[in-house]
Amino acid sequence: MQIKTVGVVGAGQMGNGIAHVFALSGYDVLLTDVSQDALEKALALIDRNIERQVAKGRTSPEDKAAAMDRIRTTTRLADLGPADLIIEAATERETVKQAIFEDLLAHIQPHTILTSNTSSISITRLASRTDRPEKFMGFHFMNPVPVMQLVELIRGIATDEPTYKTLLGVVDSLGKTAASAEDFPAFIVNRILMPMINEAVYTLYEGVGSVKSIDESLKLGANHPMGPLELADFIGLDTCLAIMNVLHDGLADTKYRPCPLLTKYVEAGWLGRKTGRGFYDYRGETPVPTR
Ligand code: CAA
Repeated sequence: MQIKTVGVVGAGQMGNGIAHVFALSGYDVLLTDVSQDALEKALALIDRNIERQVAKGRTSPEDKAAAMDRIRTTTRLADLGPADLIIEAATERETVKQAIFEDLLAHIQPHTILTSNTSSISITRLASRTDRPEKFMGFHFMNPVPVMQLVELIRGIATDEPTYKTLLGVVDSLGKTAASAEDFPAFIVNRILMPMINEAVYTLYEGVGSVKSIDESLKLGANHPMGPLELADFIGLDTCLAIMNVLHDGLADTKYRPCPLLTKYVEAGWLGRKTGRGFYDYRGETPVPTR
Protein backbone atom coordinates (compact mmCIF):
# COMPACT_ATOMS: atom_id res chain seq x y z
CA MET A 1 0.00 0.00 0.00
CA GLN A 2 1.20 3.51 -0.88
CA ILE A 3 1.46 5.92 2.06
CA LYS A 4 1.48 9.61 1.09
CA THR A 5 -0.15 11.46 3.97
CA VAL A 6 0.69 10.80 7.61
CA GLY A 7 -1.32 12.04 10.59
CA VAL A 8 0.60 12.53 13.84
CA VAL A 9 -1.44 12.90 17.03
CA GLY A 10 0.42 14.78 19.77
CA ALA A 11 3.05 17.46 19.22
CA GLY A 12 5.19 16.69 22.27
CA GLN A 13 8.80 15.52 22.16
CA MET A 14 7.99 12.29 20.26
CA GLY A 15 5.28 13.73 18.00
CA ASN A 16 7.39 16.64 16.80
CA GLY A 17 10.35 14.35 16.08
CA ILE A 18 8.10 11.96 14.14
CA ALA A 19 6.59 14.84 12.11
CA HIS A 20 10.15 16.10 11.43
CA VAL A 21 11.46 12.81 9.98
CA PHE A 22 8.35 12.09 7.89
CA ALA A 23 8.28 15.58 6.38
CA LEU A 24 12.00 15.42 5.58
CA SER A 25 11.44 12.05 3.88
CA GLY A 26 8.80 13.51 1.53
CA TYR A 27 5.53 12.61 3.29
CA ASP A 28 2.73 15.15 3.75
CA VAL A 29 2.23 15.52 7.50
CA LEU A 30 -0.88 16.52 9.42
CA LEU A 31 0.21 17.27 12.98
CA THR A 32 -2.47 17.61 15.62
CA ASP A 33 -2.55 18.48 19.31
CA VAL A 34 -5.26 19.73 21.68
CA SER A 35 -3.10 22.77 22.36
CA GLN A 36 -2.45 25.43 19.70
CA ASP A 37 0.50 26.58 21.79
CA ALA A 38 2.03 23.07 21.66
CA LEU A 39 1.65 23.05 17.87
CA GLU A 40 3.41 26.40 17.51
CA LYS A 41 6.22 25.29 19.81
CA ALA A 42 6.55 22.01 17.86
CA LEU A 43 6.86 23.82 14.51
CA ALA A 44 9.54 26.13 15.92
CA LEU A 45 11.44 23.16 17.34
CA ILE A 46 11.22 21.18 14.09
CA ASP A 47 12.57 24.25 12.26
CA ARG A 48 15.48 24.50 14.73
CA ASN A 49 16.25 20.78 14.62
CA ILE A 50 16.23 20.58 10.80
CA GLU A 51 18.46 23.65 10.82
CA ARG A 52 20.98 21.63 12.91
CA GLN A 53 20.98 19.05 10.11
CA VAL A 54 21.44 21.77 7.47
CA ALA A 55 24.37 23.17 9.46
CA LYS A 56 25.98 19.71 9.48
CA GLY A 57 25.48 19.35 5.71
CA ARG A 58 23.08 16.40 6.23
CA THR A 59 20.29 18.16 4.37
CA SER A 60 19.99 21.25 2.18
CA PRO A 61 18.18 24.56 2.87
CA GLU A 62 15.85 23.71 -0.08
CA ASP A 63 14.94 20.31 1.40
CA LYS A 64 14.38 21.97 4.76
CA ALA A 65 11.99 24.53 3.22
CA ALA A 66 10.14 21.77 1.34
CA ALA A 67 9.83 19.70 4.53
CA MET A 68 8.47 22.63 6.56
CA ASP A 69 5.95 23.25 3.75
CA ARG A 70 4.71 19.67 3.99
CA ILE A 71 3.64 20.03 7.64
CA ARG A 72 0.09 21.22 8.36
CA THR A 73 -1.07 21.70 11.95
CA THR A 74 -4.57 21.47 13.39
CA THR A 75 -6.25 21.18 16.78
CA ARG A 76 -9.09 19.04 15.31
CA LEU A 77 -8.72 15.26 15.08
CA ALA A 78 -11.40 15.38 12.33
CA ASP A 79 -8.84 17.07 10.03
CA LEU A 80 -6.82 13.83 9.94
CA GLY A 81 -9.34 12.35 7.46
CA PRO A 82 -6.97 12.38 4.42
CA ALA A 83 -4.22 10.44 6.26
CA ASP A 84 -3.20 7.00 4.93
CA LEU A 85 -1.30 6.31 8.14
CA ILE A 86 -1.91 7.71 11.61
CA ILE A 87 0.68 7.66 14.38
CA GLU A 88 -0.67 8.37 17.85
CA ALA A 89 2.03 9.93 20.04
CA ALA A 90 -0.02 11.31 22.92
CA THR A 91 0.59 10.93 26.66
CA GLU A 92 1.50 7.40 27.81
CA ARG A 93 -1.92 6.77 29.41
CA GLU A 94 -4.15 4.06 28.01
CA THR A 95 -7.43 5.93 28.58
CA VAL A 96 -6.10 8.96 26.66
CA LYS A 97 -4.94 6.79 23.75
CA GLN A 98 -8.21 4.86 23.64
CA ALA A 99 -10.26 8.07 23.57
CA ILE A 100 -8.15 9.37 20.65
CA PHE A 101 -8.64 6.20 18.59
CA GLU A 102 -12.36 6.16 19.35
CA ASP A 103 -12.69 9.79 18.20
CA LEU A 104 -10.63 9.16 15.06
CA LEU A 105 -12.78 6.28 13.78
CA ALA A 106 -15.56 8.55 12.54
CA HIS A 107 -13.19 10.57 10.35
CA ILE A 108 -10.71 8.18 8.75
CA GLN A 109 -10.80 6.23 5.47
CA PRO A 110 -11.31 2.45 5.23
CA HIS A 111 -7.70 1.87 4.14
CA THR A 112 -6.09 4.03 6.86
CA ILE A 113 -3.54 2.22 9.03
CA LEU A 114 -3.66 3.12 12.73
CA THR A 115 -0.52 2.96 14.85
CA SER A 116 0.54 3.93 18.34
CA ASN A 117 3.97 5.14 19.39
CA THR A 118 3.28 3.66 22.83
CA SER A 119 6.42 2.53 24.60
CA SER A 120 4.71 -0.18 26.64
CA ILE A 121 0.92 -0.52 26.36
CA SER A 122 -0.64 -3.65 24.79
CA ILE A 123 -1.14 -3.17 21.06
CA THR A 124 -3.69 -6.00 20.97
CA ARG A 125 -5.79 -4.25 23.63
CA LEU A 126 -5.59 -0.81 21.95
CA ALA A 127 -6.44 -2.41 18.57
CA SER A 128 -9.43 -4.26 19.97
CA ARG A 129 -11.15 -0.96 20.72
CA THR A 130 -11.03 0.07 17.03
CA ASP A 131 -12.92 -1.14 13.94
CA ARG A 132 -9.68 -2.40 12.30
CA PRO A 133 -7.46 -4.50 14.57
CA GLU A 134 -5.90 -6.06 11.42
CA LYS A 135 -4.71 -2.60 10.31
CA PHE A 136 -3.35 -1.62 13.73
CA MET A 137 0.28 -1.77 14.89
CA GLY A 138 2.78 -0.52 17.44
CA PHE A 139 5.17 1.93 15.77
CA HIS A 140 7.71 2.86 18.42
CA PHE A 141 10.28 5.59 17.71
CA MET A 142 13.18 6.43 20.02
CA ASN A 143 14.05 9.86 21.38
CA PRO A 144 15.50 12.02 19.80
CA VAL A 145 13.66 10.72 16.75
CA PRO A 146 15.78 12.51 14.08
CA VAL A 147 18.96 10.97 15.53
CA MET A 148 18.03 7.48 16.72
CA GLN A 149 18.28 4.74 14.09
CA LEU A 150 15.81 2.22 15.53
CA VAL A 151 12.04 1.86 15.15
CA GLU A 152 10.30 -1.01 16.96
CA LEU A 153 7.43 -2.62 15.03
CA ILE A 154 4.92 -4.47 17.18
CA ARG A 155 2.18 -6.63 15.70
CA GLY A 156 -0.97 -7.15 17.75
CA ILE A 157 -2.56 -10.59 17.69
CA ALA A 158 -4.79 -9.58 14.74
CA THR A 159 -2.35 -7.44 12.68
CA ASP A 160 -2.26 -8.67 9.08
CA GLU A 161 0.83 -9.20 6.91
CA PRO A 162 0.12 -6.35 4.39
CA THR A 163 0.00 -3.83 7.27
CA TYR A 164 3.29 -5.12 8.69
CA LYS A 165 4.95 -5.09 5.25
CA THR A 166 3.71 -1.55 4.60
CA LEU A 167 5.25 -0.30 7.83
CA LEU A 168 8.52 -2.11 7.13
CA GLY A 169 8.64 -0.17 3.83
CA VAL A 170 7.86 3.10 5.61
CA VAL A 171 10.70 2.57 8.12
CA ASP A 172 13.04 1.86 5.22
CA SER A 173 11.93 5.04 3.43
CA LEU A 174 12.85 7.05 6.56
CA GLY A 175 16.39 5.63 6.39
CA LYS A 176 15.85 3.90 9.73
CA THR A 177 16.11 0.26 10.86
CA ALA A 178 13.14 -1.77 12.09
CA ALA A 179 13.24 -4.32 14.92
CA SER A 180 10.18 -6.52 15.25
CA ALA A 181 8.96 -7.20 18.77
CA GLU A 182 6.15 -9.38 20.06
CA ASP A 183 3.28 -7.68 21.87
CA PHE A 184 4.35 -8.20 25.50
CA PRO A 185 4.74 -5.42 28.10
CA ALA A 186 7.26 -2.74 27.06
CA PHE A 187 8.38 -4.76 23.99
CA ILE A 188 12.20 -5.02 23.61
CA VAL A 189 13.92 -1.66 24.21
CA ASN A 190 12.02 -0.62 27.31
CA ARG A 191 11.84 -4.16 28.74
CA ILE A 192 15.61 -3.93 29.04
CA LEU A 193 16.26 -0.17 29.38
CA MET A 194 13.67 0.74 32.04
CA PRO A 195 14.68 -1.86 34.66
CA MET A 196 18.24 -0.53 34.25
CA ILE A 197 17.06 3.05 34.84
CA ASN A 198 14.89 1.89 37.78
CA GLU A 199 17.91 0.07 39.25
CA ALA A 200 19.95 3.28 38.92
CA VAL A 201 17.24 5.07 40.93
CA TYR A 202 17.39 2.29 43.58
CA THR A 203 21.19 2.71 43.65
CA LEU A 204 20.62 6.39 44.41
CA TYR A 205 17.76 5.67 46.90
CA GLU A 206 19.89 3.21 48.86
CA GLY A 207 22.83 5.64 48.97
CA VAL A 208 25.19 3.45 46.99
CA GLY A 209 26.12 6.42 44.82
CA SER A 210 25.24 10.04 44.11
CA VAL A 211 23.53 11.24 40.91
CA LYS A 212 26.93 12.28 39.58
CA SER A 213 28.78 9.07 40.49
CA ILE A 214 26.00 6.82 39.10
CA ASP A 215 25.87 8.69 35.77
CA GLU A 216 29.65 8.92 35.45
CA SER A 217 30.00 5.21 36.22
CA LEU A 218 27.78 4.15 33.35
CA LYS A 219 29.17 6.75 30.93
CA LEU A 220 32.82 6.01 31.60
CA GLY A 221 32.48 2.40 32.73
CA ALA A 222 30.01 1.09 30.16
CA ASN A 223 30.37 3.64 27.35
CA HIS A 224 26.74 4.78 27.53
CA PRO A 225 26.24 8.15 25.79
CA MET A 226 24.21 9.40 28.77
CA GLY A 227 24.14 8.21 32.39
CA PRO A 228 20.90 6.42 33.39
CA LEU A 229 19.60 9.29 35.56
CA GLU A 230 20.39 11.88 32.88
CA LEU A 231 18.61 9.60 30.38
CA ALA A 232 15.60 9.24 32.71
CA ASP A 233 15.33 13.06 32.85
CA PHE A 234 15.61 13.15 29.05
CA ILE A 235 12.81 10.57 28.57
CA GLY A 236 10.62 12.06 31.32
CA LEU A 237 10.25 10.56 34.80
CA ASP A 238 6.47 10.22 34.38
CA THR A 239 7.03 8.11 31.26
CA CYS A 240 9.67 5.99 33.07
CA LEU A 241 7.26 5.38 35.97
CA ALA A 242 4.37 4.58 33.61
CA ILE A 243 6.52 1.98 31.81
CA MET A 244 7.69 0.40 35.09
CA ASN A 245 4.04 0.14 36.18
CA VAL A 246 3.12 -1.58 32.90
CA LEU A 247 5.98 -4.08 33.42
CA HIS A 248 5.04 -4.64 37.08
CA ASP A 249 1.31 -5.07 36.38
CA GLY A 250 1.72 -7.00 33.14
CA LEU A 251 4.42 -9.46 34.23
CA ALA A 252 3.54 -9.60 37.95
CA ASP A 253 7.17 -9.96 38.99
CA THR A 254 8.57 -7.96 41.94
CA LYS A 255 11.79 -7.35 40.02
CA TYR A 256 9.84 -4.64 38.13
CA ARG A 257 8.74 -2.78 41.32
CA PRO A 258 9.11 0.96 40.60
CA CYS A 259 11.59 2.58 42.98
CA PRO A 260 9.74 4.70 45.61
CA LEU A 261 12.18 7.54 44.89
CA LEU A 262 11.09 7.58 41.23
CA THR A 263 7.47 7.80 42.40
CA LYS A 264 8.37 10.67 44.75
CA TYR A 265 10.00 12.71 41.98
CA VAL A 266 6.90 12.23 39.81
CA GLU A 267 4.61 13.20 42.70
CA ALA A 268 6.66 16.38 43.11
CA GLY A 269 6.14 17.22 39.44
CA TRP A 270 9.93 16.94 38.94
CA LEU A 271 9.59 15.13 35.64
CA GLY A 272 13.03 15.86 34.17
CA ARG A 273 14.11 18.23 31.44
CA LYS A 274 10.59 19.07 30.31
CA THR A 275 9.67 20.59 33.69
CA GLY A 276 13.11 22.06 34.40
CA ARG A 277 13.86 19.66 37.28
CA GLY A 278 14.35 15.93 37.81
CA PHE A 279 17.49 14.14 38.94
CA TYR A 280 19.14 17.34 37.74
CA ASP A 281 18.01 20.95 38.03
CA TYR A 282 18.07 22.50 34.53
CA ARG A 283 17.04 26.00 35.48
CA GLY A 284 20.56 27.45 35.56
CA GLU A 285 23.40 27.56 33.03
CA THR A 286 24.46 23.94 33.59
CA PRO A 287 22.46 21.02 35.05
CA VAL A 288 23.02 20.56 38.82
CA PRO A 289 22.28 17.20 40.55
CA THR A 290 19.27 17.41 42.88
CA ARG A 291 20.71 14.73 45.25
N1 CAA B 1 17.22 16.82 15.88
C1 CAA B 1 18.22 16.79 15.01
N2 CAA B 1 19.50 16.54 15.36
C2 CAA B 1 19.75 16.33 16.66
C3 CAA B 1 18.74 16.34 17.63
C4 CAA B 1 17.42 16.60 17.21
N3 CAA B 1 16.39 16.62 18.06
N4 CAA B 1 19.29 16.07 18.85
C5 CAA B 1 20.61 15.90 18.63
N5 CAA B 1 20.89 16.05 17.31
C6 CAA B 1 22.17 15.86 16.66
C7 CAA B 1 23.16 16.95 16.95
O1 CAA B 1 23.05 18.01 16.03
C8 CAA B 1 24.49 16.22 16.82
O2 CAA B 1 24.88 16.09 15.47
P1 CAA B 1 26.42 15.74 15.07
O3 CAA B 1 26.68 14.34 15.51
O4 CAA B 1 26.44 15.90 13.61
O5 CAA B 1 27.25 16.73 15.82
C9 CAA B 1 24.16 14.84 17.33
O6 CAA B 1 22.76 14.67 17.21
C10 CAA B 1 24.58 14.67 18.76
O7 CAA B 1 23.96 15.69 19.55
P2 CAA B 1 24.74 16.67 20.53
O8 CAA B 1 26.11 16.94 20.04
O9 CAA B 1 23.84 17.81 20.83
O10 CAA B 1 24.80 15.91 21.89
P3 CAA B 1 25.36 14.49 22.25
O11 CAA B 1 26.57 14.10 21.48
O12 CAA B 1 25.42 14.55 23.73
O13 CAA B 1 24.19 13.49 21.80
C11 CAA B 1 22.20 12.32 22.10
C12 CAA B 1 22.88 13.67 22.21
C13 CAA B 1 22.09 11.88 20.65
C14 CAA B 1 20.80 12.51 22.69
C15 CAA B 1 23.05 11.27 22.93
O14 CAA B 1 23.32 11.75 24.21
C16 CAA B 1 22.37 9.93 23.04
O15 CAA B 1 22.39 9.11 22.14
N6 CAA B 1 21.73 9.69 24.22
C17 CAA B 1 20.96 8.48 24.46
C18 CAA B 1 19.61 8.61 23.84
C19 CAA B 1 18.76 7.39 24.06
O16 CAA B 1 19.15 6.41 24.69
N7 CAA B 1 17.55 7.44 23.53
C20 CAA B 1 16.60 6.39 23.69
C21 CAA B 1 15.73 6.73 24.84
S1 CAA B 1 14.57 5.46 25.12
C22 CAA B 1 13.32 5.82 24.13
O17 CAA B 1 13.24 6.79 23.44
C23 CAA B 1 12.24 4.83 24.19
C24 CAA B 1 11.14 5.13 25.10
O18 CAA B 1 10.05 4.71 24.80
C25 CAA B 1 11.30 5.81 26.39
